[in-house]
Amino acid sequence: MATSIPPSTNIQNISENALDDNTMFIPTMLANKPTIPKQFFWPKSETAPATGILDAPIIDLQGILTGDASSIKKQVDALRVACETHGFFLVVNHGIDTNILNETLDRAAEFFTMPLETKLNIVQKKGSMSGYSGAHSERFSDKLPWKECLSFKSGGSIEEFMGSSLGKEFEPMGLVYQNYSEAMKKLTLSIMELLGLSLDVGKDYYREFFQDCGYIMRCNYYPRCPEPELTQGTGAHSDTVALTILQQEEVEGLEVFTGGAWQSILPVPGSLVVNIGDTFMAMTNDIYKSCVHRAVVNRHSSRRSIAFFVIPRGNKVVRAHDSLIGPNGKRLYPDFTWSELEEFTQKYHRVDENTLKCFAQRLRLLGSSSSE
Ligand code: OGA
Ligand code: NI
Repeated sequence: MATSIPPSTNIQNISENALDDNTMFIPTMLANKPTIPKQFFWPKSETAPATGILDAPIIDLQGILTGDASSIKKQVDALRVACETHGFFLVVNHGIDTNILNETLDRAAEFFTMPLETKLNIVQKKGSMSGYSGAHSERFSDKLPWKECLSFKSGGSIEEFMGSSLGKEFEPMGLVYQNYSEAMKKLTLSIMELLGLSLDVGKDYYREFFQDCGYIMRCNYYPRCPEPELTQGTGAHSDTVALTILQQEEVEGLEVFTGGAWQSILPVPGSLVVNIGDTFMAMTNDIYKSCVHRAVVNRHSSRRSIAFFVIPRGNKVVRAHDSLIGPNGKRLYPDFTWSELEEFTQKYHRVDENTLKCFAQRLRLLGSSSSE
């Protein structure tokens, strides 16, 4: 998921196109040029435009929040169909104050439009999941994404992290992100109740499993792009986490590959986009789908999105509930922990649509060699 650059990155290199180990490309600095550097080029086969609009249900959470049984049943049925098909749905009446949503998007715009020198003070360090990152070629020399990110991993105060990296005056901005993450964590548990009901494992089963969940919160900033048809904001991937809750501003860009075609998810004001990730797919033995998606960029306006990635805490074992195994009793994945999957994506595998399959293969190999 995340990549990192050494803190010693030479700023001089950043705006240049020379490719060396420390080069970081900053799309906000390239947005006004007529063309984009070739490191941002993606193969034609991967940049075909979307051909439709995804039929993602709008799930009203009012019922689950107030305990209204008839409304819950209706929402659960719609949720199940979406999760069995592509894993994407929208939520409304989610109980999160519009001010929190808007303010977080505002603060993200404020952050990304600051001078590069300031942003580099909170640059993501090697091995860390928190901080600022541009597109850089330390790990990957091609297919760079046209975006900048600011990420926070659970486990510390975002307010303190912003303050200590950027100065005390950034603590209020940190507090806004902190409040956002707390609101999202609460929402996660309500969604877990619905997911539990929809899979007939009971409303508390996933709620309890994720009660102490961790998270990665990522603000994505996709600047305008002079040649949007050549590149991607976020290339095709599935989310390795359990669940993603995404706030996208009112600019189109999110697309899902399902039914053999790329389909857009249009922004609906006030709603949040939720999708099943690989880890949850494994927890359902593939009954629910973690679907490939991407974010495209455009010539006319920048776009912000805030992703809240839900991850199982530490060494919790990810394993499908017995009732989801089916009549032939075949488990599709070996048991694993989030830490193992995270290590796999950081050390061995650039996140793409095959992450979970490759990870499971590696686990089986390691398992068979250790039992020899
Ligand atoms: C992601 C993602 C989509 C978007 O960050 O994993 O899929 O619209 N983002 O930014
Ligand atoms: Ni994603």
